[in-house]
Amino acid sequence: MKKPLKEVSRGKTKQVYSTEDPTQVILEFSDRITAGDGKKRDELPNKGVLNCGISTKLLQLLEQTDIPTHYIETIGKDKMLVRKLEMLPLEVVLRNIATGSLIKRLQMIKEKTVLKRPIVEFFLKNDEYHDPFLSEEYIALLEIATPEEIEEMIRLAKKANDVLLPFFKKIGIDLVDFKLEFGGDTAGILRIGDEINPDSMRLWDTATGRILDKDRYRKDLGQVIEHYIEVYERVTGKKFEG
Ligand code: C5P
Repeated sequence: MKKPLKEVSRGKTKQVYSTEDPTQVILEFSDRITAGDGKKRDELPNKGVLNCGISTKLLQLLEQTDIPTHYIETIGKDKMLVRKLEMLPLEVVLRNIATGSLIKRLQMIKEKTVLKRPIVEFFLKNDEYHDPFLSEEYIALLEIATPEEIEEMIRLAKKANDVLLPFFKKIGIDLVDFKLEFGGDTAGILRIGDEINPDSMRLWDTATGRILDKDRYRKDLGQVIEHYIEVYERVTGKKFEG
């Protein structure tokens, strides 16, 4: 049994622990939820377990399609054994439908417009500077990633979308957009890291348009955890037992 040894870092919603194997770490999903660069924060009981379960299913789907991720094994209701990655300070966003920061930046695009083809955008992962949008040239200027790494992140984000979009469609959910984070493993292979769940994606119920993701928290729509439970049950096909 893999055991957490020492806490090596603590993010806004997850803790990372070292293990006896220097190439592997344990991610622990907490009940914390934050928005607005961490200014708004709360604890929602069960969120950690729900997000661990949803991330498990989605990362397994990607791995099964030969998309390299950090996922190894889920070792507890809220814990995942993953490959240790050297993370790039980037948030890579793939969009299928226009909303959120895209329609603020490009005001000529109407909310809910279905994009003719998915687009990939990069943001600096930095709360102090409010996660600014980065062009590929900016990424090179800041020496965050090489052109080859940028190309690979775009390819993997699109490939992930090719798996996730039809998966969600089958369970009656529109995958509006999602955020990925990437890092190099100890062998230098670029992999999808972090988590994939309603904290990092926009999910709309196809039949009703109901928002099922973290926008319920950001926009004070209420019943956040009830909707995460619904996503868990639709994604995993299992009843949530807590
Ligand atoms: O705010 P924006 O429209 O750029 O968000 C695009 C996608 O990235 C959404 O699914 C959002 O949940 C996700 N995101 C995230 N973490 C951030 C910013 C955005 O997971 N810091």
